[in-house]
Order: sequence, then structure tokens, then C-alpha cells
Amino acid sequence: NESVIGITSVFKGAFVHSTHTSPMDILENFILGVSEAGKIVFIEGAYEQENLAKRWGFRNTDITHLKDWEFFIPGMVDTHIHASQYSYMGTGLDMPLLQWLNTYTFPAELKYKKTEFAEEVYNKVVKRTLKNGTTTACYFATIHTDSTLLLGEIADKIGQRALVGKVCMDINNTVEEYKETTEESVEETKRFISTLLQRKYPQVKPIITPRFVLSCSDKLLKDLGFIAKNNDLHIQSHISENTEEVQIVKEMFPDCTSYTDVYNKYNLLTNKTVMAHGCHLTDKELDIFNQRGAAISHCPNSNLSLCSGLLDVRNVLKHKVKIGLGTDVSGGYSPSMLDAIRRALDTSKALTIQTSGYETLTYKEVFRLATLGGSQALALEDTIGNFEVGKDFDAVLVSPSIPDGPFDVFAGDTFEVVVEKFLNLGDDRNMVEVYVAGKKVVPFKE
Ligand code: GUN
Ligand code: ZN
Repeated sequence: NESVIGITSVFKGAFVHSTHTSPMDILENFILGVSEAGKIVFIEGAYEQENLAKRWGFRNTDITHLKDWEFFIPGMVDTHIHASQYSYMGTGLDMPLLQWLNTYTFPAELKYKKTEFAEEVYNKVVKRTLKNGTTTACYFATIHTDSTLLLGEIADKIGQRALVGKVCMDINNTVEEYKETTEESVEETKRFISTLLQRKYPQVKPIITPRFVLSCSDKLLKDLGFIAKNNDLHIQSHISENTEEVQIVKEMFPDCTSYTDVYNKYNLLTNKTVMAHGCHLTDKELDIFNQRGAAISHCPNSNLSLCSGLLDVRNVLKHKVKIGLGTDVSGGYSPSMLDAIRRALDTSKALTIQTSGYETLTYKEVFRLATLGGSQALALEDTIGNFEVGKDFDAVLVSPSIPDGPFDVFAGDTFEVVVEKFLNLGDDRNMVEVYVAGKKVVPFKE
């Protein structure tokens, strides 16, 4: 019965989102209602206002009117970010992946043995990304269970939707102490999952996280695949990021036909799997991703910063493989999904320069990757990704013409032009409010 659903907020103005048939729809002068449970109950043209008010029992005075040029976009989905690497974001991008891991990353991640250090950094990264419009983040933490549990607690407290992973790695350590035994890795993963699930955070879920093939023994990969399957859990890792890494995986697994084949063999490629990078995947490997329903997280800032490669997103889309965008902090130096949008466009343009007849991605397609695509990549499309009725209201209120803002709006601009300016030039100053599951989480509560 409709009358028992309490409407807690009604917004009237412009809504910009992606659908399956259109990379960007601009719904001007629309009216959207959110239930007590934080779900979108209706989204209709404003001509329906009187009918909606009667049907859902709200008054015209209950409506929040967006100001001139303001619009809502769906909350952005960062499909790959290392919360622990936020402490050195913006530094140390002067060497390729494997050297970078040993020189900067593993020594930095070791510090999270101390939960006080974790608490400081994790509060900062959750706030920074949330105020930049990331309503959902898929996080790598470190090998430390208690610090990783703290990340889940902090995301819940501040109000970000998150998948949180305790990193697993039992071989090839180069940094003394930053390694676990196989048994520790498996037992601590179980403890992490059961503790996090017991806490029943509404928007925070655990994700199985083998670091990548180079860091995991056969036994560890096998056990993690088994745990994921038995508990129907999400899975994340890295794949085919740079060519040196791909070569080493070939040598480690001479019987496997590809990097993808290794994860597939250990039941780590499922419809709840997201693999970061995939710059050097072959068409055959993309076919396996498609068959398994596994997804790719495209992290263009990281791929350029570490000179890893240029992912051909057009080819991934042709293979009907799910794909979203990731910041990959701190292989990527920006925490903002707007940066990921811009770097994804740059990458597509670099491929266009290299390849005659290449079909460059449009800014609208890349906007879809940052929102609906991300929701698909994290197997959360039923809950988030756009403003369809029945989904949670995860949204960013964008105010383009703020005083001293990062760009200017002129009288002759169309809404479409203003949205394009925001995507290319905007920043967190324009993101005046952020909502997760109907709750206003930016400005921050305290
Ligand atoms: N591969 C394995 N670990 C990492 C990491 O921390 N960052 C990136 N970019 N790639 C990885
Ligand atoms: Zn990564």
C-alpha cells in the first residue's frame, strides 16, 4: 500500500543520469521523491506534481527546489582505491609498478599495524572521497585485520557506501614483516568477514582481496576462491596491469593459458568480481570475463602515472564486459572521480592518435562509466547507479555557479553545456551536498 510508505524528501529541478539506452539523460524540471528507507519512490516530470502530491501525501511546501543551474547526478562509484595508500598520495610516481610496490607501497602499508595511524588516514580518505562525490568506494586496506575493520567502521560512521577488503599476500615479500603465512592470511580473512558481517553496517560489505597473483601462493588463491564461493562474497584483485607482471605470471603458471586463466582456475572470476587495470588482456581473456560476468576497473590516472599501459575501453565494451572507473589511489594521484573521468577521456584520445579509425569515447560515455558502469562492475546495479525508481538515493547536488568557483556559466549556456563544463572543470567546491541512501552525508555531520 502506497500510503504507508513515508516520503521524507521531495526534490524539484534537474537530474542528470545514465540508463542502458542513453549514456546521459538530462531530466529538466523533474520531481523526485525519497522514502524513509532512502529509496527513490518516484521521478516524474513536474507536470505530474499535483497527482504525485495526492498519491504520496506530501504538500507543495515539502518540496526542495533546486536553484538556477543546479542539478543532481548519481553518486559516483570508485571501483578501485587503496585507502591505505592515501597517506602518500601525490608522491613517488617515478618508477614502474613492481619497483614502485617495493619502494613506496609495502613500506607504507606496513605502518597500518598500528590502528592509531590507520584511524587518522582512514578518516581522511573517506571524507576526502565523499566530499568529491564518491558515494560508493571499493577499498583495499592492508593485511592488518583490526585496521581494516576500523576502515569499515569509519565508512559506516561518516556515511559512505563501501566494499572493504583485508589484503591477502603470502609470497614474494621484499619488505621484512609485510607478509603473512598462508594460514594467517586465510584465518584472518575469515575473522575479518565474520566480524564485519556481525556488525550489520547497512552500506558496508566485506570483499575478498588477494593482492595479485605475484603475491599469492596456489593454496591461498584456492582457499580464498573457496571462502568467496561459500559465503557468496565480492572479490577484487589486480590483473594485467603492466607487461613485466604479465610475463612473471606466465612463468609462475606455465600450465595456465593466461593471467585470466589463473584467477578463473581458482574460482576467483565470478559475477561479483572486479579486477583492476586489465591493460594487457587479450580478446580471449575478455571473452572469459564476459562468460563469468566478471568486471574491470579502469584506472587511467594510475596507468599513466606508473606508465603501465593504455586500456582500450572501447574493446572492453565490444566484448560486453562490465566496466567502471577507479582512482587507484595512490598509483593514481587523484582521489576524485572527476579526475578519473578526465584521464579516461585522455587515454581514449591517446588511443585515437595511435590508431586510425578509432572510435573515441565521448564524455557522456565516460560519465556512465563513473556512475552506472561502476554500479554494474561492483554488482550493485539493483541498488545504485542512476535515478531509477526502487534504487537507493545516492546523489550529488552540483552547484555550477558558486562564487569564485572553478568555472563560469553564461546566460546563453544550455544545461547540457553546463554539465559538460562541470565534468571537465568542476571540483568538490561545486558538490554542495552528497546523499547516501537518502541521508545527507556532506556537509559532514560534526
Ligand atoms: N598490484 C598489486 N598491488 C598493487 C597496488 O597496490 N597498486 C597497483 N596499482 N597495482 C598493484
Ligand atoms: Zn590498485
